[in-house]
Amino acid sequence: MFKGVLFDLDGVITDTAEYHYHAWKKLGEEIGISIDRSFNEQLKGVSREDSLSLMLRYGNKENDFTAEEFAELAQRKNDYYLEMIQAITPKDVYPGILELLTDLKTAKIKIALASASKNGPFLLQKMNLTSYFDAIADPEKIAHGKPAPDIFLLAAKEVGLTTKECLGIEDARAGIQAIAASGAQPVGVGQKKDLGENIPIVSDTTELTLAYLKEVWREHE
Ligand code: BG6
Ligand code: MG
Repeated sequence: MFKGVLFDLDGVITDTAEYHYHAWKKLGEEIGISIDRSFNEQLKGVSREDSLSLMLRYGNKENDFTAEEFAELAQRKNDYYLEMIQAITPKDVYPGILELLTDLKTAKIKIALASASKNGPFLLQKMNLTSYFDAIADPEKIAHGKPAPDIFLLAAKEVGLTTKECLGIEDARAGIQAIAASGAQPVGVGQKKDLGENIPIVSDTTELTLAYLKEVWREHE
């Protein structure tokens, strides 16, 4: 049996992936870069700074800003995002997630957060979920963001496990790649066209039950 579950946050625990998109879109409009949902798939799971670099490259503006201006743009996007997430409450937790966290706790399976977001701790608090987590891996402590495995390796380590003993749950392609590279077993939330054909995927978080995760693990063993 697996001993730990490493959770992504945005788009897995709650709908904040949507807010990230709207905040990037707003910033993009201000600097003359128009992004759509299809491009946004590339930003999912990716750190704030890497997302901004991807967006500037997409708009052929990668050489238009000084380091200081770049930092200001990243900050501005986060200000928009922070404004949007102030109103988040426990009601915004995706269906099925609270039940899953409760069942994992009862089964004494470790729970860790492996989000690229520096806003992760704030969001868990807003949703009253902090106490379910045995560890929150700090994205400031890793050298490489998703799709590199670092954040999942750190999350497993912080709960005293190896990634081989863990499942990782993600809604982003970069995140699935990071889980696979870390040696944990990936579970996707979303669609095969975005996440890949060869991994277990649920289209809805209500399907993310402990029984389902056990089934995934049996097939993986
Ligand atoms: C990831 C999101 O979880 O966190 C990305 O999927 C986001 O969209 C990244 O860019 C970093 O988040 P933050 O809150 O630190 O800007
Ligand atoms: Mg995500």
